[in-house]
Amino acid sequence: MRRSLVVGNWKMNGTLASGKALVQEIVSGLDNTNADIAVCPPFIYLSEIDKLLQGSHLKFGAQNIADQESGAYTGEVSASMLKEINCTYALVGHSERRSYYGDTNETVAARFNQALSQDVCPILCVGETLEQREQDKTFQVIDEQLNAVIDLVGIESFAKAVIAYEPVWAIGTGKTASDEQAQEVHQYIRQQIAKRDQSIADNMQILYGGSVKPDNAKALFAMADIDGGLIGGASLDAESFLGIYNSI
Ligand code: 13P
Repeated sequence: MRRSLVVGNWKMNGTLASGKALVQEIVSGLDNTNADIAVCPPFIYLSEIDKLLQGSHLKFGAQNIADQESGAYTGEVSASMLKEINCTYALVGHSERRSYYGDTNETVAARFNQALSQDVCPILCVGETLEQREQDKTFQVIDEQLNAVIDLVGIESFAKAVIAYEPVWAIGTGKTASDEQAQEVHQYIRQQIAKRDQSIADNMQILYGGSVKPDNAKALFAMADIDGGLIGGASLDAESFLGIYNSI
Protein backbone atom coordinates (compact mmCIF):
# COMPACT_ATOMS: atom_id res chain seq x y z
CA MET A 1 0.00 0.00 0.00
CA ARG A 2 1.51 3.33 -1.07
CA ARG A 3 1.47 6.25 1.35
CA SER A 4 0.01 9.43 -0.03
CA LEU A 5 1.88 12.73 -0.08
CA VAL A 6 0.72 16.34 -0.28
CA VAL A 7 3.31 19.02 -1.09
CA GLY A 8 2.78 22.78 -1.09
CA ASN A 9 4.82 24.74 -3.64
CA TRP A 10 4.79 28.34 -2.41
CA LYS A 11 6.62 29.60 -5.52
CA MET A 12 7.82 33.21 -5.09
CA ASN A 13 5.16 34.34 -2.63
CA GLY A 14 4.91 35.78 0.86
CA THR A 15 7.37 37.14 3.40
CA LEU A 16 9.41 35.46 6.11
CA ALA A 17 6.77 36.46 8.67
CA SER A 18 3.85 35.15 6.59
CA GLY A 19 5.74 31.93 5.80
CA LYS A 20 6.49 31.27 9.46
CA ALA A 21 2.88 31.98 10.42
CA LEU A 22 1.68 29.64 7.66
CA VAL A 23 3.81 26.68 8.81
CA GLN A 24 2.83 27.27 12.43
CA GLU A 25 -0.83 27.21 11.44
CA ILE A 26 -0.35 24.05 9.38
CA VAL A 27 1.53 22.30 12.21
CA SER A 28 -1.08 23.19 14.79
CA GLY A 29 -3.92 22.06 12.51
CA LEU A 30 -2.27 18.73 11.59
CA ASP A 31 -4.19 16.17 13.58
CA ASN A 32 -3.17 12.96 11.80
CA THR A 33 -0.20 11.32 10.15
CA ASN A 34 -2.23 9.33 7.63
CA ALA A 35 -0.21 10.73 4.74
CA ASP A 36 3.11 12.49 4.17
CA ILE A 37 3.07 16.30 3.95
CA ALA A 38 5.64 18.95 3.04
CA VAL A 39 5.98 22.60 2.05
CA CYS A 40 8.45 24.08 -0.44
CA PRO A 41 9.15 27.71 0.58
CA PRO A 42 11.60 30.01 -1.26
CA PHE A 43 15.27 29.05 -0.62
CA ILE A 44 15.97 32.03 1.61
CA TYR A 45 13.34 30.99 4.15
CA LEU A 46 14.30 27.33 4.40
CA SER A 47 16.62 27.42 7.40
CA GLU A 48 14.15 29.51 9.41
CA ILE A 49 11.37 27.08 8.49
CA ASP A 50 13.64 24.16 9.46
CA LYS A 51 13.84 25.54 13.01
CA LEU A 52 10.05 25.53 13.28
CA LEU A 53 9.66 22.01 11.95
CA GLN A 54 12.13 19.98 13.98
CA GLY A 55 10.38 16.81 15.14
CA SER A 56 7.24 17.71 13.18
CA HIS A 57 5.39 15.45 10.75
CA LEU A 58 5.44 18.40 8.33
CA LYS A 59 8.63 18.23 6.20
CA PHE A 60 10.09 20.82 3.86
CA GLY A 61 11.60 20.86 0.41
CA ALA A 62 13.30 23.24 -2.00
CA GLN A 63 11.75 24.50 -5.24
CA ASN A 64 14.87 23.74 -7.24
CA ILE A 65 18.39 22.28 -6.78
CA ALA A 66 21.67 22.81 -8.62
CA ASP A 67 22.67 20.51 -11.45
CA GLN A 68 26.33 20.65 -10.32
CA GLU A 69 27.98 19.58 -7.08
CA SER A 70 29.78 22.87 -6.23
CA GLY A 71 31.83 25.65 -7.79
CA ALA A 72 31.37 28.76 -9.89
CA TYR A 73 27.61 28.55 -10.50
CA THR A 74 26.29 31.96 -9.46
CA GLY A 75 22.80 31.90 -8.04
CA GLU A 76 22.56 28.13 -7.61
CA VAL A 77 22.03 26.16 -4.38
CA SER A 78 23.67 22.76 -4.12
CA ALA A 79 22.30 19.46 -2.88
CA SER A 80 24.83 19.35 -0.02
CA MET A 81 23.75 22.84 1.13
CA LEU A 82 20.15 21.66 1.20
CA LYS A 83 21.09 18.46 3.01
CA GLU A 84 22.92 20.51 5.63
CA ILE A 85 19.66 22.19 6.64
CA ASN A 86 17.65 18.89 6.75
CA CYS A 87 15.83 19.44 3.49
CA THR A 88 13.76 16.35 2.67
CA TYR A 89 12.57 17.08 -0.89
CA ALA A 90 13.55 19.14 -3.94
CA LEU A 91 11.32 19.91 -6.90
CA VAL A 92 13.11 19.33 -10.18
CA GLY A 93 11.87 20.35 -13.62
CA HIS A 94 8.85 22.35 -12.56
CA SER A 95 7.24 23.66 -15.75
CA GLU A 96 7.95 27.26 -14.68
CA ARG A 97 11.68 26.40 -14.48
CA ARG A 98 11.48 24.68 -17.86
CA SER A 99 9.61 27.50 -19.59
CA TYR A 100 11.06 30.66 -17.97
CA TYR A 101 14.57 29.62 -16.94
CA GLY A 102 15.65 27.25 -19.67
CA ASP A 103 15.69 23.96 -17.82
CA THR A 104 15.96 21.13 -20.34
CA ASN A 105 15.32 17.40 -19.91
CA GLU A 106 19.09 17.00 -19.57
CA THR A 107 19.61 19.65 -16.87
CA VAL A 108 16.54 18.36 -15.03
CA ALA A 109 18.10 14.88 -15.04
CA ALA A 110 21.35 16.34 -13.67
CA ARG A 111 19.45 18.14 -10.88
CA PHE A 112 17.63 14.90 -10.05
CA ASN A 113 20.97 13.11 -9.87
CA GLN A 114 22.45 15.77 -7.57
CA ALA A 115 19.47 15.53 -5.21
CA LEU A 116 19.86 11.76 -4.95
CA SER A 117 23.58 12.06 -4.30
CA GLN A 118 22.75 13.79 -0.97
CA ASP A 119 19.65 11.78 -0.11
CA VAL A 120 17.37 14.69 -0.86
CA CYS A 121 14.25 13.16 -2.43
CA PRO A 122 13.70 14.61 -5.92
CA ILE A 123 10.12 15.36 -6.97
CA LEU A 124 10.36 15.14 -10.75
CA CYS A 125 7.74 17.35 -12.40
CA VAL A 126 6.48 16.32 -15.83
CA GLY A 127 3.58 17.48 -17.97
CA GLU A 128 2.46 18.68 -21.36
CA THR A 129 1.36 22.11 -22.60
CA LEU A 130 -2.12 22.66 -24.02
CA GLU A 131 -0.70 22.75 -27.54
CA GLN A 132 1.05 19.42 -27.02
CA ARG A 133 -2.16 17.87 -25.63
CA GLU A 134 -4.16 19.15 -28.60
CA GLN A 135 -1.60 17.62 -30.95
CA ASP A 136 -1.93 14.26 -29.13
CA LYS A 137 1.65 14.49 -27.94
CA THR A 138 1.01 14.08 -24.20
CA PHE A 139 2.50 10.60 -23.87
CA GLN A 140 5.43 11.46 -26.15
CA VAL A 141 6.30 14.49 -23.99
CA ILE A 142 6.01 12.45 -20.78
CA ASP A 143 8.25 9.75 -22.32
CA GLU A 144 10.92 12.30 -23.23
CA GLN A 145 10.82 13.92 -19.78
CA LEU A 146 10.98 10.56 -17.97
CA ASN A 147 13.49 8.86 -20.25
CA ALA A 148 16.08 11.65 -19.93
CA VAL A 149 16.17 11.03 -16.19
CA ILE A 150 16.03 7.22 -16.35
CA ASP A 151 18.86 7.22 -18.91
CA LEU A 152 21.09 9.27 -16.61
CA VAL A 153 20.37 7.79 -13.18
CA GLY A 154 18.91 4.34 -13.91
CA ILE A 155 15.51 3.02 -12.90
CA GLU A 156 16.71 1.87 -9.44
CA SER A 157 17.05 5.53 -8.43
CA PHE A 158 13.31 5.99 -8.78
CA ALA A 159 12.90 3.94 -5.59
CA LYS A 160 13.95 7.12 -3.76
CA ALA A 161 12.05 9.67 -5.82
CA VAL A 162 8.58 11.07 -6.38
CA ILE A 163 6.98 12.01 -9.70
CA ALA A 164 4.50 14.88 -10.07
CA TYR A 165 2.29 15.08 -13.15
CA GLU A 166 1.41 18.72 -13.72
CA PRO A 167 -0.31 19.47 -17.02
CA VAL A 168 0.97 22.98 -17.83
CA TRP A 169 -2.50 24.11 -18.95
CA ALA A 170 -3.89 23.34 -15.47
CA ILE A 171 -1.28 25.27 -13.45
CA GLY A 172 -2.65 28.44 -11.90
CA THR A 173 -5.50 28.55 -14.43
CA GLY A 174 -8.33 27.15 -12.33
CA LYS A 175 -8.71 24.45 -15.04
CA THR A 176 -8.06 21.14 -13.31
CA ALA A 177 -7.59 18.05 -15.44
CA SER A 178 -10.66 15.86 -15.01
CA ASP A 179 -10.16 12.92 -12.67
CA GLU A 180 -10.12 10.58 -15.68
CA GLN A 181 -7.66 12.75 -17.68
CA ALA A 182 -5.27 12.82 -14.74
CA GLN A 183 -5.67 9.11 -13.99
CA GLU A 184 -4.97 8.23 -17.63
CA VAL A 185 -1.57 9.95 -17.53
CA HIS A 186 -0.72 8.70 -14.03
CA GLN A 187 -1.45 5.15 -15.14
CA TYR A 188 0.70 5.68 -18.22
CA ILE A 189 3.61 6.96 -16.08
CA ARG A 190 3.32 3.99 -13.74
CA GLN A 191 3.30 1.60 -16.72
CA GLN A 192 6.47 3.18 -18.10
CA ILE A 193 8.20 2.60 -14.77
CA ALA A 194 6.70 -0.91 -14.47
CA LYS A 195 8.11 -1.91 -17.87
CA ARG A 196 11.53 -1.48 -16.25
CA ASP A 197 10.81 -2.44 -12.63
CA GLN A 198 7.42 -3.61 -11.38
CA SER A 199 8.14 -3.22 -7.69
CA ILE A 200 9.44 0.35 -8.03
CA ALA A 201 6.32 1.19 -10.05
CA ASP A 202 4.03 -0.33 -7.42
CA ASN A 203 5.66 1.74 -4.66
CA MET A 204 6.14 4.99 -6.59
CA GLN A 205 4.28 8.06 -5.29
CA ILE A 206 2.85 9.89 -8.31
CA LEU A 207 1.32 13.27 -7.42
CA TYR A 208 -1.11 15.36 -9.43
CA GLY A 209 -0.62 19.13 -9.64
CA GLY A 210 -2.64 21.87 -11.32
CA SER A 211 -5.43 23.88 -9.66
CA VAL A 212 -5.99 21.36 -6.85
CA LYS A 213 -8.39 22.82 -4.27
CA PRO A 214 -10.16 21.35 -1.21
CA ASP A 215 -13.29 20.78 -3.28
CA ASN A 216 -11.71 18.77 -6.10
CA ALA A 217 -8.93 16.98 -4.18
CA LYS A 218 -10.99 14.09 -2.85
CA ALA A 219 -12.13 12.87 -6.26
CA LEU A 220 -8.63 13.23 -7.76
CA PHE A 221 -6.97 11.41 -4.86
CA ALA A 222 -9.53 8.61 -5.11
CA MET A 223 -8.16 7.62 -8.55
CA ALA A 224 -6.13 4.41 -8.52
CA ASP A 225 -2.79 5.91 -9.60
CA ILE A 226 -2.98 9.34 -7.96
CA ASP A 227 -1.08 9.29 -4.67
CA GLY A 228 -1.53 12.89 -3.58
CA GLY A 229 -0.90 16.37 -4.88
CA LEU A 230 1.57 19.14 -5.62
CA ILE A 231 -0.33 22.25 -4.65
CA GLY A 232 0.42 25.84 -5.70
CA GLY A 233 -2.04 28.62 -4.86
CA ALA A 234 -4.11 26.64 -2.37
CA SER A 235 -1.01 25.79 -0.30
CA LEU A 236 -0.63 29.47 0.69
CA ASP A 237 -3.62 29.22 3.00
CA ALA A 238 -3.38 26.80 5.95
CA GLU A 239 -7.06 25.97 5.96
CA SER A 240 -7.22 25.06 2.28
CA PHE A 241 -3.87 23.21 2.36
CA LEU A 242 -5.03 21.17 5.38
CA GLY A 243 -8.40 20.66 3.70
CA ILE A 244 -6.58 19.10 0.73
CA TYR A 245 -4.38 16.98 3.03
CA ASN A 246 -7.42 15.78 4.98
CA SER A 247 -9.20 14.71 1.82
CA ILE A 248 -6.64 11.90 1.37
P1 13P B 1 -1.63 25.72 -8.77
O1 13P B 1 -2.11 24.74 -7.70
O2 13P B 1 -1.63 27.13 -8.31
O3 13P B 1 -2.36 25.49 -10.07
O4 13P B 1 -0.09 25.37 -9.06
C1 13P B 1 0.29 24.06 -9.29
C2 13P B 1 1.77 23.98 -9.28
O5 13P B 1 2.44 24.50 -10.16
C3 13P B 1 2.41 23.31 -8.15
O6 13P B 1 3.75 23.08 -8.39
